[in-house]
Amino acid sequence: MRIADFALERFFARWEFAVEHLLCASDVEAYPMAELVSLADDETRALWDGLRLGYTESTGHPLLRAEIASLYETIEPDEVLTFAGAEEAIFCLMNVVTGTGDQVIVTSPAYQSLYEVAHANGADVTLHELREAHAWAIDLDALRAQVTPATRLIVVNLPHNPTGMLADRATFDSLVEIAEGAGAHLLVDEVYRGLEIDEGDRLPTGADSMPRGISLGVMSKSFAMPGLRIGWIATHDRDLLDALARFKDYTTICSSAPSEILAIIGLRSRDRVLGRSRSIVAANLERVDVFFEEWSDRFSWVRPRGGSIGYPRLTVPGIRIDDWAAALVQAEGVLLLPGSQLGDPGNHFRLGFGRADLPVALDRLEAFARRTLR
Ligand SMILES: Cc1ncc(COP(=O)(O)O)c(C=O)c1O
Repeated sequence: MRIADFALERFFARWEFAVEHLLCASDVEAYPMAELVSLADDETRALWDGLRLGYTESTGHPLLRAEIASLYETIEPDEVLTFAGAEEAIFCLMNVVTGTGDQVIVTSPAYQSLYEVAHANGADVTLHELREAHAWAIDLDALRAQVTPATRLIVVNLPHNPTGMLADRATFDSLVEIAEGAGAHLLVDEVYRGLEIDEGDRLPTGADSMPRGISLGVMSKSFAMPGLRIGWIATHDRDLLDALARFKDYTTICSSAPSEILAIIGLRSRDRVLGRSRSIVAANLERVDVFFEEWSDRFSWVRPRGGSIGYPRLTVPGIRIDDWAAALVQAEGVLLLPGSQLGDPGNHFRLGFGRADLPVALDRLEAFARRTLR
């Protein structure tokens, strides 16, 4: 397979560990390992202390699959397959579901692998553009018009990276109806599930919503444990799960043994783990709101409804965000992600508000803005 570079990951490969403040990170401040281990119950403590570093069950540790299944209303443990992060799940899924002659509809901007892998497989990718002027909302009429007899898969990401968009319930129900009407799979990338700003806005999961609904989950974002590299797919479509398991034999075969146990501990303590993430995000978002209110004549800001990132726009005529962000990182060690890295050449940039250093990073950004934008 020939596949285009993953622009965002190449950008992070250059910058992530070279800057002081990552004000565009997509995750939440990483959970401390020692604290996580201290949350183990008797069973998981015994698993951790007695762990042998052998291969693991290729479908995932049975207790891990049970914990993951309990995040859903109708999913059984054997309707869950674990992967190395959400990224491996996307790669396997796109390889199994899409190919030449298939159409895949993907909301855009998007995490690149959500469309690039299908494209590399020869599928016809149709981007469903989200627009700031519509508060990044999914346009149901436009989506209906994009569906063709060749539509195999519709991909949405809720809450959305990078805009923080979260569909309302009626829109979500219509999405399900459109996918069902098309006889297509619906992939809902739910890596930010649990970080809805208003918990009342939490949507049903993709896997619970229709027989061909697919939920993509991971420990990386809401659960603040990207270093575990534990992700999963949940679906009632057992033929799809079988095909995914067979494909995974060519990628990682099975998950990391220590990570599985740590993920079980994390999921059993989900209230505490998610509570921590939610409070970091809520406090940071308040600060971000204050900043954008004060600078509303220089930046536009659609307040995210979920997740730990938003997608503001620099509105000063004649200043390109790519140039401004490059000068900012040079002067202040604060990294933003220009939209160009997401295939969106306008003046938007991704701002992450899940990290503990956000107040310092935002102060530095503001000092730089005072020097350069006033
Ligand atoms: C929307 C979305 N999906 C999937 C992923 C991949 O997650 P992971 O890095 O845990 O594999 C990311 C990572 O940034 C993401 O933002």
